[in-house]
Amino acid sequence: MKAVDWIDGTVRFIDQTLLPAEERFVITNDIQVIAEAIRSLRIRGAPAIGVAAAFGLVLGLRSPDSPDGSSLALRFDRAARLLGSTRPTAVNLFNVLNRMRGVLQAVSGVGDREAIQQLEREARVIQAEDIEACHRIGELGAALLNAGTSVLTHCNAGALATAGDGTALSVVTTAHRQGKIRQVYVDETRPLFQGARLTSWELLRAGIEVVLITDSTAASVLREGRVQAVIVGADRIAANGDTANKVGTYPLAVLAQRHNVPMYVAAPVSTLDPHTLTGNDIPIEERDPSEVTQVAGIRIAPEGVRTYTPAFDVTPHELISAIITDRGVLRPPYDAGIAGVLRKP
Ligand code: MRU
Repeated sequence: MKAVDWIDGTVRFIDQTLLPAEERFVITNDIQVIAEAIRSLRIRGAPAIGVAAAFGLVLGLRSPDSPDGSSLALRFDRAARLLGSTRPTAVNLFNVLNRMRGVLQAVSGVGDREAIQQLEREARVIQAEDIEACHRIGELGAALLNAGTSVLTHCNAGALATAGDGTALSVVTTAHRQGKIRQVYVDETRPLFQGARLTSWELLRAGIEVVLITDSTAASVLREGRVQAVIVGADRIAANGDTANKVGTYPLAVLAQRHNVPMYVAAPVSTLDPHTLTGNDIPIEERDPSEVTQVAGIRIAPEGVRTYTPAFDVTPHELISAIITDRGVLRPPYDAGIAGVLRKP
């Protein structure tokens, strides 16, 4: 199952807002559809957003010449601005836009057709790299787990969130194939239920035993010694290792430390952001209040109530036991480790 794919010059993605009730694939050659899909979480998860943006850019450039006859560079700027406005926290999005801009600059003078072909090639490379990164993360992360491990995870860092097998969930599925996983406790993940709707769906399909819990049950699960590892994904990892991930990750890290359970963050190097020095500098997306005042379209809070709706929180690096990247498992101090893996080819 591929969350986002490039098929015969079109993008195909599964609409994650409908899961698990309906498995509907959308096929489009319209950058506006991609931008809307990212904004509304039909396509979600940092690496999948990056891959979708790469393909979305190509769609935007290939669409019939703009009526004002603007240059490819100007059309690129417009497309990048549109995609870059969708979600501010997942750094994969901005890393991809910068990388594609670099390709455009490198091929200047070759003509629009050839330039767009080069960009399409680069988008496919970005997709292939993410598939490989998921695989490596799975191998490296599984090696950290002992037989009989039960894991707690938050949100969805699985195949739905990447081009490949996921990050945190690639660790789980790889370790499961090695016979190491007893069961996975899945936080439902308020407010949009990525854990309940998406992670449980993915893990059950993989034949892994799932125990779904409310987010507030995690404290009891850790205190009762039911899990031996917490494994989550990331939307952006600052230069010092501070990590933004789905809101509710930070409390898990505090709880994991309190109960001496390792807290692992699994993420490809495309989620590292050496230009953001600490977690305080990570832009945190705020979502529409209706995501908290309503559940599945039904209002549960009184009219007029004020809300605070950050989509992500920041886990300070000192609460993270290891960062599992596709280029190696990083241990503190993270600033040196992050700089090191980014220097590797
Ligand atoms: O708001 P979402 O569903 O896009 O949030 C996703 C997460 O927080 C994931 O854990 C993160 O993007 C890593 S996905 C491999």
